[in-house]
Amino acid sequence: MNRDYLHKEEKSLIQAYSQLPISVVKGTECELITNDGKKIIDFYGGHAVVPLGYGLDEYLDVINTQMKKLLFQSNLLPLDIRANAASQLLSISPKNLKKVFFVNSGSEANENALKIACHYKKRKKILSISHAFHGRTAAAAAVTWGSESWYGFPSKPFEVEFIPRNNSEIARKMINSDVAAVIVEPIQGVAGAFDLSEEFLRTIRDECNDHSALMIVDEVQSGMGRSGEYFAIQNFNIEPDIMTAAKSLGGGLPCSVIFISNLLDETIKKGDLGSTFGGNPVICSAIEFVIQYIKEKNLLNNVIEREKEIRDLCITGPVNGIQGKGLLLGLITDHPAHEIQKKLLKKNILTGLSSDPSVLRLLPPLVLQSKHIEKLSQSLTEI
Ligand SMILES: Cc1ncc(COP(=O)(O)O)c(C=O)c1O
Repeated sequence: MNRDYLHKEEKSLIQAYSQLPISVVKGTECELITNDGKKIIDFYGGHAVVPLGYGLDEYLDVINTQMKKLLFQSNLLPLDIRANAASQLLSISPKNLKKVFFVNSGSEANENALKIACHYKKRKKILSISHAFHGRTAAAAAVTWGSESWYGFPSKPFEVEFIPRNNSEIARKMINSDVAAVIVEPIQGVAGAFDLSEEFLRTIRDECNDHSALMIVDEVQSGMGRSGEYFAIQNFNIEPDIMTAAKSLGGGLPCSVIFISNLLDETIKKGDLGSTFGGNPVICSAIEFVIQYIKEKNLLNNVIEREKEIRDLCITGPVNGIQGKGLLLGLITDHPAHEIQKKLLKKNILTGLSSDPSVLRLLPPLVLQSKHIEKLSQSLTEI
């Protein structure tokens, strides 16, 4: 353990994270290099943020070229590169979604999605799903399960109720004409890659239709190819009214996006939304590259193939089940996941935890290879 590194952060950064005892200085593909020269296989992917892995020359060249051409310009001036990124995103998203708006983080995307819903419906209630995580800003945290312990604001911006996950019967009772929107992650990431059932998601869609409420799908973690489809909701052929994405979106650069249907577009007036950095040219060049690369390298197929291998090889040692989809997977463990995470790190494998103490989360780059899975499987067997 490198105490010096931890000490440096401890002195100057607010200690809000339980950090792992390694210091990383470099990354290539799916591997991280520590300051003492160890190679670590990264099954955590910077929290689902590096779809193409680390150090990809073509990606870095694209960003670099755009930085030299035009590093930044505000949304006051229209940019071809912004229009291109937007149309590329619309080309891979559910077909009813017709416009996008760029912001900077998952929370900010959800904050705006919820605002659009309340504004459009003129209703005061939002329904979320038990165990959901949607972010840490005022509205996003209000719809996050268990946020009371850290919420911090004097009151919530709207009424919130939580539907017990995968309980269609209760969903039918709770979705009524008081509800502006239901916000849902098709695969609950922070909850341990817990996949919601098709029946539950379809019930939400149908009930929202029946009561003229909106369905907001949060694809911040599950989007951009991670589930084996561009967006996890496409596994079920369900069309949301609003969708958000972030994390993998920019290949590692901070950005997020809100997608809306045509109907909603008509209700948004100039000045209703805004962002200084959202949609900046460097980020837009990165977004366009990520989409092209996923297509060219057929990464959706890689995700599906690697998922199969993980399911075949990794129910071993302390793992007795796997949930989730694609490369957003939860390994269900027979003893505390944090102990297994530590043991794996000693074997130079980085994994993630979740809000479920018995689930170890895998969110690796989408370019993961079989050799990495074989190493994970062998290490799990040994611990
Ligand atoms: C599903 C989901 N929504 C929203 C967020 C919040 O994103 P950010 O941390 O970029 O604000 C997260 C972060 O983990 C997430 O997993």
